[in-house]
Amino acid sequence: MQSKIHEKFVSLYGEGGEAYASAGRINLIGEHTDYNGGYVFPGAIDKGIVAEIKLNGTDKVRAYSLDYDAETTFGLNEEDKPKEAWACYIFGVCRETIKRGGKVEGFDTVFAGDVPLGAGLSSSAALESTFAFAINEIFQNGIDKFELAKIGQSTEHNYCGVNCGIMDQFASCFGKAGCLIRLNCKTLEFKYFPFDPEAAGYKLVLIDSCVKHELASSAYNKRRASCENAAAAIRKNHPEVEFLSDAKRVWLEEVRTEIPEEDFLRAEYVIGEVQRVLDVCDALERSDYETAGEMMYQTHFGMSKLYEVSCEELDFLNKLARKMDVSGSRVMGGGFGGCTINLVRKELYQPFVDAAVKDFTAKFGHEPKIYDVVISDGARKL
Ligand code: GLA
Repeated sequence: MQSKIHEKFVSLYGEGGEAYASAGRINLIGEHTDYNGGYVFPGAIDKGIVAEIKLNGTDKVRAYSLDYDAETTFGLNEEDKPKEAWACYIFGVCRETIKRGGKVEGFDTVFAGDVPLGAGLSSSAALESTFAFAINEIFQNGIDKFELAKIGQSTEHNYCGVNCGIMDQFASCFGKAGCLIRLNCKTLEFKYFPFDPEAAGYKLVLIDSCVKHELASSAYNKRRASCENAAAAIRKNHPEVEFLSDAKRVWLEEVRTEIPEEDFLRAEYVIGEVQRVLDVCDALERSDYETAGEMMYQTHFGMSKLYEVSCEELDFLNKLARKMDVSGSRVMGGGFGGCTINLVRKELYQPFVDAAVKDFTAKFGHEPKIYDVVISDGARKL
């Protein structure tokens, strides 16, 4: 990928570019907890974005997407927002850097990625983090890594219409090979956990349903609003509740009749999920992958029945995993399509993958995709 990018860069903008990269992410457990001030447990993966960049001495950015085979030019002022959705991520990162007092001047860039789009692996966070990191280095802005992650998150909020949490951009900026990272999204304290399932006889595999639901971002924003509504109701009785993750299950019960049942169910899921992250981390410290896997099934149940972000295809894959005695399986990421993440004992790996491809294709008429992921480094200069 890097050599293709370089070739294109030279043909469009000449020699002298420098290459930067960042990564997509998986999340073992802790879904929809980030914007509720809870825990997440992601890691960066060996699929990401690579960009070659060079200053061009103007006040314009010229960007070429190798994957879309498209070029665009935009200025750096608020009114210069490009019309191409892919370019808005780069524009947003420039704007958010400038808003934080950072310097950004015109540059040329060619970029490409190998994170499957719409699979829930955060291709957009990979793109944001690549540019946030690169711009910070090139202009020597001295912005710290957390703020770089927030630049990506604010780009989603202000330029892409998704009211997301910090998990994806955090994982993409802080990712470290061989480690998952438990982040407390309220205090921003984090801890690296070496994660080597192979050594314990397991493999991680993602099965992509290749389903992508329209309106996923408005459904996502709606879930977030439900959680904030539930937290606000609980706060009236318990002023110490800043985020939903601060609430106890019984406190939610107290306000059951005051909030829509839908909001109650969303909040019930979140409160359970925050605890599950801690339980999984404890289990992994004892190399107890079976307990970790069982928690993943509980998460799937919650995401499907309480949070309602699964779909028929993902429920099918989850059920198949259970039937085949796979240790853990659940829908990963925001939901509304995308992948299941599966923790499989090595000897079951091939039979499970074969059955998933065969049965899924027979039922839904298209093949799922299989991704083996390696936990890898996040944003960096190449
Ligand atoms: C998306 C968002 C994240 C997080 C997950 C769900 O990936 O970008 O902030 O909320 O969904 O856990």
